[in-house]
Amino acid sequence: MERPIGIFDSGIGGLTVAKAISRHLPNERFIYFGDTAHLPYGDKSKEAIQRYAKGISKFLLANNCKTIVIACNTASAVSYEYLRDKYAGTIPIINVIDPIIETVVANGTHKKIGLIATKATIQSGVYQEKMKRRNPDITMKVLRTPLLAPMIEEGFSKDKISKTVIENYLSNPIFEGIDSLILGCTHYVLIKDEINNFFDGKVTLYDSTDIMAHKMIEVFESENLLSSKKSGDNHFYVSDITEGFQESTSRFYGDNIRLELLKI
Ligand code: DGL
Repeated sequence: MERPIGIFDSGIGGLTVAKAISRHLPNERFIYFGDTAHLPYGDKSKEAIQRYAKGISKFLLANNCKTIVIACNTASAVSYEYLRDKYAGTIPIINVIDPIIETVVANGTHKKIGLIATKATIQSGVYQEKMKRRNPDITMKVLRTPLLAPMIEEGFSKDKISKTVIENYLSNPIFEGIDSLILGCTHYVLIKDEINNFFDGKVTLYDSTDIMAHKMIEVFESENLLSSKKSGDNHFYVSDITEGFQESTSRFYGDNIRLELLKI
């Protein structure tokens, strides 16, 4: 049996990444873990997020996953290096931040780029640091946008509330003259159209859906990990289950999926 991909997030936002992976890599099977009991990660300490990430990774490894995808910007920001070093020499650990930075830099035309993300992601300084290291000529303007993830999760998008909140954040003067914006949270994919409308389509938007799937293809090709055929169903585990989470899954994943409760 082909080995699955392990994907995790603080909750259901990472389903946007899982969906992109399933679209681009239809032969792959995956195990998704949404840590809904500890949501949101954006307000947690680095130590707490690292502890959760370690527990989830242990579970994914025990289930024979051939790689771990950290489908959460916050967990990528504060636990990627930790997991990479801990599991060095076993399986590839892929975060959502590096592929976005690589894609932005490879574009070669951006001079002033904005970033919206959770408090913990912005505070970690990881995006700012990685961008500076890769291309010190790109100016980065960052803004914590803590209302967006809960707003999206509660189902507010394409309505008056989301329009007001998005306008309020994006009209911040620091974003004047940006040529691109990184949607630094896996939830924000659901309001990408509204963000695009706010900028009249004049600002290039980067998110971690297709970019991540392309990264996976690159890693799997170089490590010889591609599956030749799908060997079973995907599984979607969460550490706490509510009707609300179950209802939201179809908005994040696009199809109806069944969440399974798993306390690890
Ligand atoms: N999905 C998480 C991210 O990409 C944000 C949600 C949270 O704060 O847990 O950063």
